[in-house]
Amino acid sequence: MKLAMIGGGGFRTPLVYSALLRDHAPGRVTDVALVDVDASRLTTMARILEEQARGVADAPHVSVHTDLAEGLAGADFVFSAIRVGGLDGRARDERIGQSHGVIGQETVGFGGISFALRTLPVVMELARTVARVAPDAWVINFTNPAGIVTEAMSGVLGDRVIGICDSPIGLARRALGALGLGGRRDAELRYAGLNHLGWVTGLRVDGRDVLPDLLARPDLIESFEEGRLFGAEWIQTLGALPNEYLHYFDYRRDVLQADQYEPSTRGRYLAHQQGAFWDRAGTSESPLAAWRLCRHEREVTYMATNRESAGMGERDEADILSGGYEDVALALMRGIAHDERARLVLNVRNRGTLRELDDDAVVEVPCLVDSAGAHPIAGAELPDHGRGLVVAVKYVERQAIEAGVHGSRAAALRALARHPLIDSVNVARALLEDATSSFHDELSHLH
Ligand code: G6P
Ligand code: MN
Repeated sequence: MKLAMIGGGGFRTPLVYSALLRDHAPGRVTDVALVDVDASRLTTMARILEEQARGVADAPHVSVHTDLAEGLAGADFVFSAIRVGGLDGRARDERIGQSHGVIGQETVGFGGISFALRTLPVVMELARTVARVAPDAWVINFTNPAGIVTEAMSGVLGDRVIGICDSPIGLARRALGALGLGGRRDAELRYAGLNHLGWVTGLRVDGRDVLPDLLARPDLIESFEEGRLFGAEWIQTLGALPNEYLHYFDYRRDVLQADQYEPSTRGRYLAHQQGAFWDRAGTSESPLAAWRLCRHEREVTYMATNRESAGMGERDEADILSGGYEDVALALMRGIAHDERARLVLNVRNRGTLRELDDDAVVEVPCLVDSAGAHPIAGAELPDHGRGLVVAVKYVERQAIEAGVHGSRAAALRALARHPLIDSVNVARALLEDATSSFHDELSHLH
């Protein structure tokens, strides 16, 4: 079985490879093709993976490619995790957002739209190349903003592209942990929304929903990350557990305020941190050790501004180490390849699941995975307070797709002006102008 990793020179590749190394079952991945535009990162990444594989007898063979079609040839699965414009682009989006008093985070608000506008032409080309070179391959999309990117790619690949995110499973794991049910992998999660915009609406264990047990206990709610972030009182008021990215919506003003006092944005911090990592790892005797150190630092500081604004202090060590994204990816791949039925929260086409949205809208809901792909499980339901927001943001996503895929500047303006986190058409216009001048080449398709 061959896995092609587009953006394989990216920082999270070793997480995926370590999950592959743990898999010794028949039919596992035997070949990994790393594809990246950056040849020097590919060289360093190959060294990191080689170090990871030491002492593992049946380690998957790794090859590196700067040519996309070459890397894709014969692939059964394709992971896509790319960042158009790099971390510097992420930092520029944040800066532009800040300068107009709006959220510039890479998936939420202005940042999400700007990132989508420059990413969509590239992922559409990727989708077309997959369709041509590896027409039977399944594409697992990690590229952010994952919901928008998955929906756009589904226009070419249909249900063969599936989006993933680790935040729903992380939230469920932490909530179960708070109830002392951390070991219950069979717990049935009820979840509904869009990527980075959803809620846990139920947690069934032994046929009983234990979410009300959690909601009744402020002390338990505030014993885990999202509970502290949103506060027990607000979570009890909602009657559901929000995805951490909803913090930007629910506490927008507080986050913007905290942002003003940060010495640098997340993107700027990561651009420096990761730059130093690639320099160090390139010459280090143990690039894997350098990677581990850097990853720990990256996880410790994850969503620091949001946590700061909520006054909640450090992350739990267990959350820092647990990851999740690579396990979701592996379970999805095995589910499809071996018809190993798995229940996973994934980004797939709606197909009547959420009644507020049409069939082709990509939503983030629990799915049943088998050899025919990922099928949304009927019964997912948005909490009442989330319905308007989800419909509004899906409209925005669609306009962003229209803009990014077909080059419509008017659609880009509609996306920005209608975004719930952007509060004036004048601001939307100014943001669009700043984005098109800052990303002159990447956004040259807008007219
Ligand atoms: C979570 C999200 C991903 C996102 C990542 C960002 O895992 O689900 O969508 O890419 O965090 O983390 P970073 O370290 O880049 O801020
Ligand atoms: Mn995500």
